[in-house]
Amino acid sequence: MESLDEYFDTALALVKTCGNLITEHVNGCKVFVKKSCDIDLVTETDKKVEQTLVEGLAKKYPSHKFIGEESVSDGAKCELTDAPTWIIDPIDGTLNFIHGFPHCCISVGLAINKECVAGIIYNPNLQQLFTAKKGQGAFLNDRQIHVSNIKELPAALVAFECGTSRDEAKCKVVYENFKLIVSKGHGMRSLGSAALNMAMVAMGGADANFEYGIHAWDIAAGDIIVREAGGVCIDPAGGPLDLLSRRVLCASTPELAEELSKNLVQFYPERD
Ligand code: IPD
Ligand code: CA
Repeated sequence: MESLDEYFDTALALVKTCGNLITEHVNGCKVFVKKSCDIDLVTETDKKVEQTLVEGLAKKYPSHKFIGEESVSDGAKCELTDAPTWIIDPIDGTLNFIHGFPHCCISVGLAINKECVAGIIYNPNLQQLFTAKKGQGAFLNDRQIHVSNIKELPAALVAFECGTSRDEAKCKVVYENFKLIVSKGHGMRSLGSAALNMAMVAMGGADANFEYGIHAWDIAAGDIIVREAGGVCIDPAGGPLDLLSRRVLCASTPELAEELSKNLVQFYPERD
C-alpha cells in the first residue's frame, strides 16, 4: 500500500541523485538561454534534473500529476487538482547556478487535495537538505528545525527578492517594500532562491520572507517545510496561501506575518 513516507522516500532518492548534476557546475554554467526576459534563464541542467525527477516519479506512480517549471509551456496555465501532484523546480536560483553563487537548490513539493504534504529543498553545493512531511516536523540534514520567535518587524531579518521580471510596476513595488524593510526591519537578505529564503525562515535564520511573482514550484516545498517548522505561510495581504497566485508571505509568528501584511505594498501578478 502506497503511503506518504513511501512517496517521500522515492522523491528523496531521486533528488539526491540529481544533486550531482548541479555540483558538476559548482563554479558556474556559462551556457544558458533566455526565457521570458534577459534575467529569466534556463540551462540544460535545469531540463535534465526535471526530466530525471518526472520520469522517475511517473514510472513509480503513473496516476500522479506534475507541475514542473521547465515542462509548463510558455503562457500556459497550471492546473492543480485534488490528485497527488508533484510540484517541481529542478533548479531554484538558476541565475546563481549560472554565476557559480552557491545558493541554488532542487525544490520538490507534493500536494494532495491541493495541500502541500511533503517537501524537499536540497542545495547540493552546501550540503543543505531541508525536508518535511505533514505532521512530522521539519528537518535540516535530519536534525529537527524550528522557526524563531520574533514577533515584531524591528527585530526581524527579512528575506525578499527582486525576482526575475523587469516589469516596471512590479519593480516599483519591490523598491517601496525594500524601503519599508530597510527603514523598519532589523535587516534584509536576498539569497537569489525563493525556496532557500523560505528554508531560512524554517530554520530560524531569517524571520520572514515575501515575494510577488514567484511560481508554485518555487514555494510548494517551502510551504510545508515552514509550517512544519512552526511558522506561518499566507497570502501577503492576509488569508490563506494560494499556490497558484504567485504571491507568498511566510514568517516565524502570526504576529510578524500580520504586521508585514498590513504594511507591505501589494502587487498582484497574473496567476500561474
Ligand atoms: C527564481 C528564484 C528567485 C526569485 C524568482 C524565482 P528560478 O526561480 O527563486 O530568487 O526571485 O521569483 O522565479 O527562476 O531560479 O527557478
Ligand atoms: Ca527554476
